[in-house]
Amino acid sequence: MKEQLSQIEVLAKQQLEEASDAKAVEELRVKFLGKKGEITAILKQMGQLSAEERPVIGQLANKVRADIEEAISERAASIKASEQERLIKEETLDVTMPGKAPKIGRLHPLNKTLEEVEEIFLGMGFEIVEGPEVETDHYCFEALNMPKHHPARDTQDTFYINENVVLRTQTSSVQIRTMENKKPPIRIISPGRVYRSDAVDATHSPLFHQIEGLVIDKGITMADLKGTLELLMKRLYGEETQIRLRPHHFPYTEPSAEVDLMCYNCGGKGCPMCKNEGWIEILGAGMVHPKVLRDCGIDPEEYSGFAFGIGLERITMGNYEIKDMRLLYENDMRFLEQF
Ligand code: DAH
Repeated sequence: MKEQLSQIEVLAKQQLEEASDAKAVEELRVKFLGKKGEITAILKQMGQLSAEERPVIGQLANKVRADIEEAISERAASIKASEQERLIKEETLDVTMPGKAPKIGRLHPLNKTLEEVEEIFLGMGFEIVEGPEVETDHYCFEALNMPKHHPARDTQDTFYINENVVLRTQTSSVQIRTMENKKPPIRIISPGRVYRSDAVDATHSPLFHQIEGLVIDKGITMADLKGTLELLMKRLYGEETQIRLRPHHFPYTEPSAEVDLMCYNCGGKGCPMCKNEGWIEILGAGMVHPKVLRDCGIDPEEYSGFAFGIGLERITMGNYEIKDMRLLYENDMRFLEQF
């Protein structure tokens, strides 16, 4: 038994050396000192011993137990210490390391321009409203005085979802939705995405943005339209900016006009930017057609109004002198970081 006991002690110390964490140490404590442990097993056999041997073995067993207990607590303490040391090393903060600057986002040039435009119209008492991009043929065309097979439809290559549902080609659809839901006076702008089945090039994209405007009240004239647009353009491009209205045709306005901006590059003299015209076309506008008003339940004898549709890409490209529209959609940080 003596031998067994000293073997247990040697074994316990050996295994403790190899124990690498607190859990392993605890397992060894149970294995050697626990109720079903090895020392207990030996003590249980003490009854077989003679009266002289019993106290000797008993003493030895107690000493071995005490030695193992001590070895266990030493091992546990040293494991704890090295664990702490490891943590301290791991968590050390080197304040001399170079910092990592967080990347700060910024507004896309289209959103910057849109926010500017919204600010200007809010200042004039306009509301901002939105309409759906998936639109019925009715709101996108029919109610705007463009029945099926109307030639004006050919200028807007349409993505059809089915015969009566389209991706809207123009934000003008929101004019109708607004007039159906709201009594005059109406003063709204409606920015949003529009879609046309166009091939991508420097000035075309199948997805682009428009800002629709609509004003309906008593006594609204073309002078109000011109004054409003002039104010917008002066705010956007500077006080010396001039616009001109050219006669045009849109089925939902009468009279209709295309509005040109004096070339911001050459000031009207003619340059490659304006194709030597001195002017750059930026939007369509006009006085809302009496038929459109009447179909929306507004009496054209009592009310009149103007509408316009601005290309957000056009005015953004003008504002920042961006020559190729594709740059606006490519998400190239080298480009976007300039704004
Ligand atoms: N919807 C036209 C287009 O996409 C732009 C436009 C022209 C809007 C005249 C209007 C308007 O509100 O009165 O080309």
